[in-house]
Amino acid sequence: MPYDPASVAAYFDRFGRAEWDRFDRSLGDRVSFVLHAEALERAVPRGSRVLEVGAGPGRFTELLHGLGCRVVVADLSSTQLALHCEFAGARGFGACVEARHQLDICDLRAFEDASYDAVVAFGGPLSYVFEQRDHALAECRRVVRPGGAIAVSVMSLWGTTHRYLEAVLVGGPAPAGEIVRTGDLTATTSPGSTHHCHMYRAAELRALLQAHGLVDVEVSASSALSTGVASSVVPADGPTWLAVLELERVACAEPGYLDAGTHLLGLARRPRAG
Ligand SMILES: C[S@@+](CC[C@H](N)C(=O)[O-])C[C@H]1O[C@@H](n2cnc3c(N)ncnc32)[C@H](O)[C@@H]1O
Repeated sequence: MPYDPASVAAYFDRFGRAEWDRFDRSLGDRVSFVLHAEALERAVPRGSRVLEVGAGPGRFTELLHGLGCRVVVADLSSTQLALHCEFAGARGFGACVEARHQLDICDLRAFEDASYDAVVAFGGPLSYVFEQRDHALAECRRVVRPGGAIAVSVMSLWGTTHRYLEAVLVGGPAPAGEIVRTGDLTATTSPGSTHHCHMYRAAELRALLQAHGLVDVEVSASSALSTGVASSVVPADGPTWLAVLELERVACAEPGYLDAGTHLLGLARRPRAG
């Protein structure tokens, strides 16, 4: 399916402030937030200058603020950028924001080569750009300095199919087969849904990062065991929550389970020479 930036922007404009709560809906979402946060802390050194593309309302900008980073925020959606400004003001993380840009991850011409210590694209920009993913990743690689980090997360084919099996089957067996064959959720394969994106297999994400000459590539699942479990089943904090988190950390890093997450996390580095 050809990438359609206008419809992605319109989708996230409509989604509005619900985007802030996306990690609070289910147990798996809560786990996913912690796994993303831990990946961010591992990948991005304190005090880095970071380009955060597809920042949405800024949940990860808030964490980058806590890491003493300076952040340039970019997003396709004008509504998400406005919400970012609002949440940053209300929650006190605006001081880390150098600038906000409405732009597409496929076109980072606004930024000089090697001008960031890290590029973060969490929550699927590399999924929304469909066939433009090589282009998008090449832009991320260009603007990060040699030795700098690239941290992405994308929708995962099998984990998402598991979580939303009924929706995947809505169009009938042929579209469901097409989703699994191509990884693409489109108007044809997912009738009635306006959430169109490419869902990756773990091996596919790894191959994409490696094809761009990135090194130290790490791919993990992001929330796998708790898929479909209501948030209320495990209260926030307490020993059961900590036990779930520890099980998820192990499961999400285990090669045999990588494809079971609703999302995939990819961490990589631009080589020091190159
Ligand atoms: C699922 S939200 C994730 C927001 C935030 N990063 C998070 O993880 O909570 C995806 C965000 O990426 C933005 N986005 C999608 N495709 C993009 C693209 N091609 N370029 C820039 N931003 C994009 C959307 O507008 C939206 O704000």
